[in-house]
Amino acid sequence: MFKKLVKSGVIGVALLFMATLAPSAAAEDEVKAADEVKAVVEIDLKNPPLPKTLEEKATRIELLSKQKFKDAQTCVGCHDEQYEYPVFALFKTKHAVVADPRSPMANQQCESCHGPGTMHVKAKKQGKRSGTIINFGKKSWTPVKQQNDMCLACHQTHERIEWRGSKHDFNGLACTSCHKIHVARDPILDREQQARVCANCHVDKQAKFFQLSHHPVREGQMACSECHNVHGEDGSGLMVKANTRAKCVSCHAEKRGPFLWEHAPAAEDCTLCHDPHGSNQPALLKKRAPQLCQECHDPAGHPGGSYGGASLAAGSFYLQAKGCTNCHSAVHGSNHPAGMTLLR
Ligand code: HEC
Ligand code: HEC
Ligand code: HEC
Ligand code: HEC
Ligand code: HEC
Ligand code: HEC
Ligand code: HEC
Ligand code: HEC
Ligand code: HEC
Ligand code: HEC
Repeated sequence: MFKKLVKSGVIGVALLFMATLAPSAAAEDEVKAADEVKAVVEIDLKNPPLPKTLEEKATRIELLSKQKFKDAQTCVGCHDEQYEYPVFALFKTKHAVVADPRSPMANQQCESCHGPGTMHVKAKKQGKRSGTIINFGKKSWTPVKQQNDMCLACHQTHERIEWRGSKHDFNGLACTSCHKIHVARDPILDREQQARVCANCHVDKQAKFFQLSHHPVREGQMACSECHNVHGEDGSGLMVKANTRAKCVSCHAEKRGPFLWEHAPAAEDCTLCHDPHGSNQPALLKKRAPQLCQECHDPAGHPGGSYGGASLAAGSFYLQAKGCTNCHSAVHGSNHPAGMTLLR
């Protein structure tokens, strides 16, 4: 198995690179056992001299191209750790798992993403400015659609089936507006770091998580992507589940129901009363009772007489301590036989 991997060349470099980071005698032995890789060792990739000119780099490429390596090998001859933009961290990611037949390194290697590189290599060997290649990111000349197509060629699966035409696609985001490829661990896939990436564009939402009551996103216990499917929508607002309520009760199961006595808004949409991102009212409430309740319930509608003789004008018994929920505690719905008015 190992031999087979080494044959594909790039894993050899990957291993060497790993070995540089964490010297392991066993790994080195194995690597040395492979003839092809030995040749690379001779030009000392483990401690590569800094090529100062393009010619020097080209020489290295010549050396490398005499070996039977191709693709990635050619590229990393110039784009090594000394290059202004180090790329080797890629070899620590899933994209470099040669044993996975779907991965770039098992296919066209660097060219799986950057497209055909022959013209590029030729031009750069001659020190020319021409010979650009598909590149990613804001400064790239490659149109966003083409950038995304390179990724979608492999990734238009699962939730990304709905990427095209989604809010993010429509607004011209590239996959690389959020994802980093040449890093060992993409920050956006890390719960603790994800929100910061989103905050590059959604500062207002990040600010909400600093309010008194908030979901523990800032604390790194929850990610934006636990509520949002950022790749495409199957409901409103890029939500993960088809509707907001389904998403909320997937964690807050006790609010799911069904209830004997439902409270209509709670059965419909939790965000009628709660702001999912944060609030300075307790329990993520958009407003406090009684204002919250009176958005829908006519103050005059509360049964007068029996509790204080007045309707819900100022000073009413029902408004004491702003406490609609002091009595109507089952505001999410009640299973008590006598819970029709959500009192228990
Ligand atoms: C899975 C797709 C993918 C693969 C495979 C890949 N790259 Fe990249 N590359 C990117 C993306 C995306 C960027 C933009 C920066 C980032 O997101 O990390 C990039 C940036 C670069 C840059 C920096 C260009 C600049 O802006 O100066 C170089 C150089 C580069 N890659 C070389 C390589 C080499 C060499 C290989 C093979 C060892 C390789 N890439 C494999 C996706 C890929
Ligand atoms: C002979 C050396 C050499 C080889 C081989 C080489 N590159 Fe480059 N590459 C360069 C130089 C130099 C630049 C910087 C161009 C500039 O800044 O004007 C560059 C730039 C890039 C960029 C930034 C986009 C651009 O067009 O400027 C990417 C991406 C890239 N190379 C990927 C690759 C990939 C993938 C391979 C393998 C197919 C590869 N390179 C092979 C020298 C090389
Ligand atoms: C040749 C196919 C191919 C291309 C092109 C490709 N990927 Fe991947 N990508 C994969 C495979 C295979 C995996 C591993 C999937 C798995 O293990 O389930 C992967 C994994 C990922 C992951 C998850 C990484 C992790 O650690 O879980 C991200 C994010 C990703 N790719 C983004 C991108 C982006 C962005 C691009 C375009 C710049 C891209 N990919 C291009 C094949 C590809
Ligand atoms: C708005 C930011 C954003 C954009 C744009 C984006 N992604 Fe993602 N991506 C994420 C987040 C957040 C996750 C982790 C949560 C998840 O799986 O939904 C992720 C996860 C992934 C994964 C790994 C999923 C897994 O199961 O491990 C792949 C693959 C991926 N994205 C590919 C892409 C591709 C391809 C594009 C471009 C078409 C893209 N992404 C655009 C934010 C983004
Ligand atoms: C607890 C679930 C949840 C979490 C966590 C969450 N959101 Fe939301 N988000 C929602 C719901 C529900 C809506 C739609 C209702 C609304 O507009 O308030 C929404 C709406 C949005 C909107 C569009 C609404 C608008 O005002 O235009 C953006 C942008 C957004 N969220 C970004 C984020 C970001 C960024 C994070 C992480 C820092 C995040 N969300 C975390 C549930 C969540
Ligand atoms: C590069 C900028 C950028 C990044 C990074 C980004 N977004 Fe967005 N997002 C946008 C833009 C632009 C819109 C469209 C805004 C609009 O229509 O008002 C949007 C819209 C949204 C919406 C609302 C969708 C709707 O239907 O109204 C949600 C939810 C959202 N983003 C979540 C996220 C999350 C979660 C992340 C991080 C994982 C993220 N975004 C990262 C730019 C970004
Ligand atoms: C991924 C799981 C998850 C999802 C989805 C989720 N929540 Fe939460 N929710 C939590 C956690 C965790 C807490 C914090 C509990 C704690 O601090 O004890 C919380 C707390 C709350 C609180 C109490 C906050 C406080 O300050 O007391 C409310 C209200 C709430 N969530 C409403 C919602 C609503 C509405 C939705 C849907 C938009 C939702 N949640 C979706 C996990 C989730
Ligand atoms: C009619 C307004 C309203 C709606 C709709 C609503 N809630 Fe609430 N929710 C409240 C009020 C008021 C409180 C504070 C209760 C208190 O003061 O004891 C609260 C508290 C909470 C709490 C924290 C305290 C607790 O009881 O655990 C969670 C979690 C919560 N709601 C989740 C949800 C979910 C999930 C939904 C959607 C199924 C939802 N809420 C719909 C008004 C509402
Ligand atoms: C978004 C609108 C809305 C909000 C906000 C709201 N409710 Fe309701 N509530 C309703 C609707 C609609 C009904 C069903 C009325 C019906 O069936 O006649 C209802 C029913 C009730 C009932 C049962 C009444 C009956 O006749 O069966 C009580 C009690 C109640 N709400 C209390 C509250 C309290 C307390 C609050 C504040 C914490 C509140 N509501 C917030 C819309 C709302
Ligand atoms: C002191 C306890 C108490 C407080 C405080 C209270 N209620 Fe009630 N509420 C009741 C009782 C008891 C009933 C049932 C009356 C009946 O069955 O005749 C009721 C009935 C209701 C009903 C359904 C009956 C109707 O026809 O209107 C609604 C709606 C309602 N309350 C809303 C509210 C709102 C909104 C507040 C806060 C402004 C509030 N209540 C404060 C005890 C209270």
